[in-house]
Amino acid sequence: MSLFISFEGIDGAGKSTHIEALASALREQGREVVLTREPGGTPLAEKLRALALNEPMDALTEALLMFAARRDHLLQVIEPALQRGAAVLCDRFTDATFAYQGGGRGFDLAVLAQLERWVQSVESLPAGELRQPDLTVWFDLPPEVAAERLAGARVPDKFESQPTEFFARVRSGYASRAESHPSRFARIDANATRETVWTSVQAAVRARGWIA
Ligand code: TYD
Repeated sequence: MSLFISFEGIDGAGKSTHIEALASALREQGREVVLTREPGGTPLAEKLRALALNEPMDALTEALLMFAARRDHLLQVIEPALQRGAAVLCDRFTDATFAYQGGGRGFDLAVLAQLERWVQSVESLPAGELRQPDLTVWFDLPPEVAAERLAGARVPDKFESQPTEFFARVRSGYASRAESHPSRFARIDANATRETVWTSVQAAVRARGWIA
C-alpha cells in the first residue's frame, strides 16, 4: 500500500531530522521510501524554488510559482511513486501555501483553493477527488522559539528573514488547515526535546499502523 506523508511547520520548527528518521523506520519495514520536498523535487520545480525563495514578487506570482512547482513534482515524482506502492515523505506540501501565502501574506484563500483543485486533480483519482497526503505531521511551536533556533543558523532566505508577526500568521494558517482537515493532520508539540518530538512523530505514524 502506498503512503503519502507531508511535514509542515514554521521555519525553525525542526522537521528535517525527524523526516530522515521516519524514512529509516519505514525502510526497516521493507518499504520503498521517496524523500522529497516542496517547492522542488524535480529539476524544473527546483528552478521555480530558487525564484520563489529569493526574488521579490507579489503574492499571486508567488502562489502561482508554488503551485506550478507542485504540479510538476506531483506528476513527475509523487504520482509515479504512489503507483509503485512507495512511501512518499514530502517536506512541505499544499498546507504550506495556505499557511505562508494565505496566512503569512494574507493572500485570498479562495484563489488558493481553486489552484489546489486544479493542481491536485490527477488521472488516477475519480473526478472531483484531489491528491492529498494520507497524513500531515505538523511541527507546531511558538514563533519566538523558532526565531531563537534560527538565529545565526545560516543566511536566511526571503521567508526566514520575515519578522515574528509573519510567522504568527503562518502558524494560524496551519491551525485553520488542521481544523478543516482533522483526520489528516497530526499536530506535534515541537517545543520539546528532540527525543520527545521523535516519540510523538512515531506515535502519529504508529497509530495509523504504518510502523510497528
Ligand atoms: P524549507 O522547507 O524550510 O526548506 P529549508 O529547510 O531548505 O529552508 O523552505 C521552504 C520555504 O518555502 C519555507 O520558508 C516555506 C516556503 N514555502 C512557501 O512559502 N509556500 C509553499 O507552498 C511552500 C511549499 C514553501
